[in-house]
Amino acid sequence: MDMLVVEGRRPLRGTVGVSGSKNAALPILAATLALDGPTILDGVPDLVDVHTLTDLLTSLGATVQRLSESRWQVQVVDEAACLADYELVRRMRAGVCVLGPLLARRGRACVSLPGGCNIGHRPIDLHLKGLRALGARISIERGYVFAEADRLIGADVDLTGPNGSTVTGTANVMVAACFAHGVTTLRGAACEPEIVDLGRFLNAAGAQIRGLGTSVLTIDGVDQLHGTTHRIIPDRIEAATLLIAAAITGGELTLTNVQHDHLTAVIDALRQIGVTVDPCGPTGLQVAARGPLQATEIIAQPYPGVPTDVQAQFTALLSLAAGSSVVTDRVFPDRFLHIPELCRMGATIRREPGRGVITGVSRLSGACVMASDLRASAALLLAALAADGDSVIRRIYHLDRGYERLENKLNAVGAAIRRVTDTPENMPASLRMLGSLPLTTEEEPSPIPPPKFLSRTEDEAARRAVP
Ligand code: UD1
Repeated sequence: MDMLVVEGRRPLRGTVGVSGSKNAALPILAATLALDGPTILDGVPDLVDVHTLTDLLTSLGATVQRLSESRWQVQVVDEAACLADYELVRRMRAGVCVLGPLLARRGRACVSLPGGCNIGHRPIDLHLKGLRALGARISIERGYVFAEADRLIGADVDLTGPNGSTVTGTANVMVAACFAHGVTTLRGAACEPEIVDLGRFLNAAGAQIRGLGTSVLTIDGVDQLHGTTHRIIPDRIEAATLLIAAAITGGELTLTNVQHDHLTAVIDALRQIGVTVDPCGPTGLQVAARGPLQATEIIAQPYPGVPTDVQAQFTALLSLAAGSSVVTDRVFPDRFLHIPELCRMGATIRREPGRGVITGVSRLSGACVMASDLRASAALLLAALAADGDSVIRRIYHLDRGYERLENKLNAVGAAIRRVTDTPENMPASLRMLGSLPLTTEEEPSPIPPPKFLSRTEDEAARRAVP
């Protein structure tokens, strides 16, 4: 397993290109199962999740070819299979996005339930509610969803859940409704740009979806969808992460391949924090953090709000903002496993139900920390970029699921990040020999002496002395 060793306090300067959106690419790749003829997708990011999904498509009878770095071709050649196996779906929640396309096109689907997740409870009841409303017969057995329908029938269905709309639930029901007989009205639909991108892709393939980008979608069923060519939108979460990377290091970056309007709430929040963000041509953004960071309140909520997928990164940034900040997550209220790790780096954050209350500190201190999920990994990496000294981030396989070579992109603009095998020898010396460090605090010196690690001979002698 790999870990990242990060040398902190290096301001980022330069230009970085944003990759195609993970959360748009995954449901669009899944939807190719419902299309006749070859489909070409441009702007597909090179991520572990994308490779897992293409493995799943292959297991379901598609041929998937990578034509160039970010251009893929998918064509279904065999429609017999309908089993999305646990081994593939458990690795990535978006695997559940094959449910709607399989049901719509093949009349049956057997898809593993995605399983537990570190960002909180993630049920799929709303996906199933929507598909049942279209006439699917659904049961759950042995950890799998079994869905069947001879012909789906258009219906009026509300997908609003306790925490708002569901993104992948909207994707599943939207694709299925494309094949339903008659008209479907989806209320409480997700307005996220990734759903708009999926809808545009389906319309280019012959679907009749209206209302994209609003909470009410009207879908006229069609008999068939044909292959098409589509470019995936830029990844607004990666863009937001890079904007925050510039801000947290006191740097200046230019981002290319950005869709400005997808980032409105993130840019507003950064400006409140005292960071300058300006458009730079139609698809570029310039970000600069020249002064002190200001405390603020952030509420992560469905689009067009601040995305829950940048809540952790904002928490890292605000840990260095003077004053008291509050970060609330209304989409995943339990998504705060990064807080204890940020506190290990010197942040002062109190976890309360659904939110983190931050008292800004003047510096973070490099530490060895453990990534718990994809966006928490990004938050820890950002904190490490700003911290004094070296940090180590372990379990970074989470990061590779959703960011395309993030450390390479950051290194190209001034960061010093090394990917090494997670072994004790690769731990930086500063984090291995803590016992020999003098205890330095800004307050009164502690009366408690710093921890002293015994050498092996001292340790053996001490143990022999115990009766
Ligand atoms: C997608 C994104 C994920 C993002 C999330 C919210 C992908 C592949 N993943 O995940 O990165 O963090 O949207 O923007 O696109 N819920 C229910 N019942 C359901 C489904 C969801 O109650 O059937 C709840 C969830 O627990 C959560 C909220 O609805 O509180 C939103 O979840 P949802 O939008 O479904 O997240 P995903 O689509 O899984």
